[in-house]
Amino acid sequence: MLNFHKEHKNLVLTAGGVFIALSILIAILPAFQMQKTEPIPDEKPLTANERVGLHVYVSENCMACHTQQVRNIEMDKVWGSRPSIPSDYFYSKQRMDVWRQSPSLLGSERTGPDLTNIGVRQPSEDWHLLHLYNPRAVVSASVMPSYPWLFREVDSSAVNKGDKVVAVPKELFNKPGLKIVASNDALRLVDYLKYLKQTELPGGVDAFIPALKKIQAERAEGGSQALDGGKLFSQVCAACHQETGKGVVGAFPSLVGSAIVNDANSEKLIRIIIQGYNARPDYGVMPPFGDQLNDAEIAAILTHERSSWGNAAPAVTVEDVAKIRQYVEMELNK
Ligand code: HEC
Ligand code: HEC
Repeated sequence: MLNFHKEHKNLVLTAGGVFIALSILIAILPAFQMQKTEPIPDEKPLTANERVGLHVYVSENCMACHTQQVRNIEMDKVWGSRPSIPSDYFYSKQRMDVWRQSPSLLGSERTGPDLTNIGVRQPSEDWHLLHLYNPRAVVSASVMPSYPWLFREVDSSAVNKGDKVVAVPKELFNKPGLKIVASNDALRLVDYLKYLKQTELPGGVDAFIPALKKIQAERAEGGSQALDGGKLFSQVCAACHQETGKGVVGAFPSLVGSAIVNDANSEKLIRIIIQGYNARPDYGVMPPFGDQLNDAEIAAILTHERSSWGNAAPAVTVEDVAKIRQYVEMELNK
């Protein structure tokens, strides 16, 4: 056996091997996975100004007290309309420059509030500037530090037209003849804070109400005519899973080659459509469609999924869906 006390070479080799294996597992593999992430279709890239602000945010180490991650737990609901997913970080994950890797904005301490959605909660530039100059000016019991070096004291007569003067209350700044002017860094930092908004997922509830209404109207007229699974898929599922079935990496899973879609036993697949699905943190939330779509429509959509984009699994019948729906209802009534 390995004798670490006598064979120091074994000790060094084992420690080295463990170090390399852990580095691959927790640093290199996740980095590759992150590189494949795609943006949510409506996600806005940072403007040049907002990116400068992001760099100020990093250099002032605001992450020491603020997170940017809405977890999928009850107490985090106040910080956003949904849990954060990898695609949310698509534009901020770029490298800072050649020498510095992407900034870690997630944060681990919440001494102050989570800032994922601060641009929605607090859109006022004046509020942010005053708050940065001295948080006590707007939140009397705040323990957040002041950032006076992001501001200049300027003689009233020397204030230029383009300068942003911050109206600081007299109790905090009372030097006659002087004004507080925001530096470029302060303005850019506030641009960045105002940029921080959660992107609405495509097909957020409102988006598919019209499509579902249309399907229901067609159902009322059409009666028993054969259903077009491909068309139904485009109307309700493609907003998230895309026409190609490939989804959006980091937001919506691919249905191409998916083990769930191609499973010979279609129970889990049918349940996902009827009950919705929210099992993995790397993806958003799939809403339930059991109330809006009937058994024949669900069977048609799933048969389309199982026979498109290279998938080759047996069709799903109306009876299959009816049976699972019955199970689901029994479970709910229990
Ligand atoms: C020592 C911890 C600490 C640091 C560092 C810190 N903050 Fe804060 N921050 C807080 C606390 C505590 C609050 C809540 C009280 C308040 O609003 O001032 C807060 C509040 C805020 C708010 C208002 C949030 C809301 O939901 O109303 C913003 C915006 C903010 N901080 C931005 C920043 C920025 C930008 C930086 C870096 C320049 C920073 N903070 C650095 C502790 C900190
Ligand atoms: C609002 C966006 C959205 C819509 C619309 C949507 N889905 Fe999903 N779907 C998701 C998300 C997000 C997941 C992954 C959830 C998780 O794993 O936590 C998912 C997962 C799935 C899965 C599991 C795939 C796998 O391999 O993990 C299937 C199958 C699926 N959806 C089918 C459908 C069908 C069929 C429709 C249309 C009736 C549909 N989805 C509509 C967002 C959506």
